Amino acid sequence: MKKVRKVVIPVAGFGTRFLPATKATPKEMMPIVDKPIIQYIVEEAVSAGIETVIFVTGRHKRAIEDHFDYAPDLEEALERSGKEELVELIRNISDMAQFVYVRQKQQLGLGHAILTAEHIVGDEPFAVILGDELVINDKNPAIGQLIDVYNKFGKSVVGTTDVPKEETHKYGIVDGKTVEDGIKLVNYLVEKPSPAEAPSTSAIIGRYVLTPKIFDALKRTPLGKGNELQLTDALMTLRKEEVIYSKDIEGVRHDTGNKIGYIKAIIDFALTREDTSEFMKQLILEKAKELNEQKVQN
Ligand code: UTP
Repeated sequence: MKKVRKVVIPVAGFGTRFLPATKATPKEMMPIVDKPIIQYIVEEAVSAGIETVIFVTGRHKRAIEDHFDYAPDLEEALERSGKEELVELIRNISDMAQFVYVRQKQQLGLGHAILTAEHIVGDEPFAVILGDELVINDKNPAIGQLIDVYNKFGKSVVGTTDVPKEETHKYGIVDGKTVEDGIKLVNYLVEKPSPAEAPSTSAIIGRYVLTPKIFDALKRTPLGKGNELQLTDALMTLRKEEVIYSKDIEGVRHDTGNKIGYIKAIIDFALTREDTSEFMKQLILEKAKELNEQKVQN
């Protein structure tokens, strides 16, 4: 069985939920404290053994390429001022993996973005991670949990978590039969169903390991929701030909694709980091006190 060595990270979307911030800056470059979201995603992939990172990019995404490239002028300036540890910090970002970029010329959907990477992935299984969801698990990275299932069964795996019934319309929803603790054999997948139509509350949270057969399935799948080529629909096409598994992902999840989730992620990270946690705790306590006093006055 071939090893999972590559990850496709689609970053070609417009990020409309974060306008105006995303007018000229990729949403993937927005920081959680001082590190861009995309770096957390790449670190997750690398810690799961991924060697090649394939970004599917679009216009206005140059900042991502620059972030994972060497920055000789910045390194020189830091060296001159004796900031060796910062030189190492920024150099390590570029040395983490091999980076490849492919342009999605038109934003025709997530499925179309994956298809754009076909010639670089080739005939081997590969991982997909979306930048919208951060999953923190220091012992076993989220995508590594899916790779473990792939290594056991040799078939495509989607990463899932249980969501409240009223939120099914935001996700690809999976229905299946449990075969092992946290692992299901998938029967049915549907993109963003209403709560009434949803077959379950098991939602795909932006992590996949796919066999290369997905490319052929994508080519045969008609446009779906939003007139876009949906990866979930292509998985349903694939499901008719080979089995697919789902794996409940273990870890602390942050939905950074919407404003509230993004703010919450920053607070949570700031609360756990050594250099910011004390200040953050103090700030939250002060704010809570202020709000309580306002409540009493009203
Ligand atoms: P989203 O649906 O979250 O879209 O795409 P978006 O543009 O990033 O954000 P909003 O909804 O407008 O605020 C899910 C993922 O698929 C990528 C996006 O970059 C994101 O990582 N994507 C989507 C593409 O690469 N190409 C597409 O054509 C569509």
